[in-house]
Amino acid sequence: MNRIRVAIQKSGRLSDRSLELLQSCGLRFARSKDKLYWYGKDFPVDLLLVRDDDIPRMLLDGVCELGIVGENIAEEVMLESDEVDGLTQLRKLSFGGCRLSLAIPEDSTVKSAADLDGCRIATSYPALTNSLLAKRGINATTVKFSGSVEIAPGLGAADAISDLVSTGTTLRANHLVELETLFESTAALYGKLDKLTDEKQAMFDRLLSRLDGVLLAAESKYVMLHAPRNAVEEITRLLPGAENPTLMNLEGDPDRVALHAVCREAVFWEHLEALKAAGASAILVLPVEKMLG
Ligand code: PRP
Ligand code: ZN
Repeated sequence: MNRIRVAIQKSGRLSDRSLELLQSCGLRFARSKDKLYWYGKDFPVDLLLVRDDDIPRMLLDGVCELGIVGENIAEEVMLESDEVDGLTQLRKLSFGGCRLSLAIPEDSTVKSAADLDGCRIATSYPALTNSLLAKRGINATTVKFSGSVEIAPGLGAADAISDLVSTGTTLRANHLVELETLFESTAALYGKLDKLTDEKQAMFDRLLSRLDGVLLAAESKYVMLHAPRNAVEEITRLLPGAENPTLMNLEGDPDRVALHAVCREAVFWEHLEALKAAGASAILVLPVEKMLG
């Protein structure tokens, strides 16, 4: 079957952004009634909506070729699996940021991560937590919880937890305080790349090239301005990530030109102020929707 399957989180922090990202690559899906399998309409790429924790395993088992999942989950599965080169991180994505942190009860006597030596730590990520603690020379016992890790200390099941923190609301609501960050994570696109047929590989490459276009466009801006002819070189240098601007004559003003350029890095107010100081005027910054090549 020459179709590619992409797994994304069914409902949760990554769901909306994952779907939006695929849609901005031009993918359209026929939503099925049970909502777990969406058939790709004009591109042979289908969507699987599943629990995020299941995505790395599904990739390893060949149920899907691509998956968008948090790095924390992918790392956990890779550490506990013996298939060393099973998963490849293809692209790191700019959403789903969170951190795996150690947290302790507000009234705990623990002052630093080192004090957790010999303690019990509840977590959904035992392999990752153990490996990160071992790197710090801390020897603790992890207690696996598949959900509601934050209630473990209150139940007397653990002295501390190692869990994902995003806003910190969950910790506060459970009278826990963050002790130390162990791992910073974002969403990423993962793939299992062995044994792709030529036809699948071609689709894969096409999809990734579109994705790169979307990711690049997201931080690119189209800048238009007027500049003194003799300041064009300096102004081009001041434009972040720009090369080879287009110059156009300004009717009736031989000393100034219109300059257009694509900036492939974020354009901040500070950049605009520097451009103005260098003699630029009528500065416009426009978003770029798509980019290819
Ligand atoms: C994480 C974590 C906490 C919550 C923290 O769960 O387990 O419950 O997010 O977020 P906060 O700091 O904003 O309160 P996640 O979203 O990964 O849910 P899941 O484990 O059910 O996938
Ligand atoms: Zn999850």
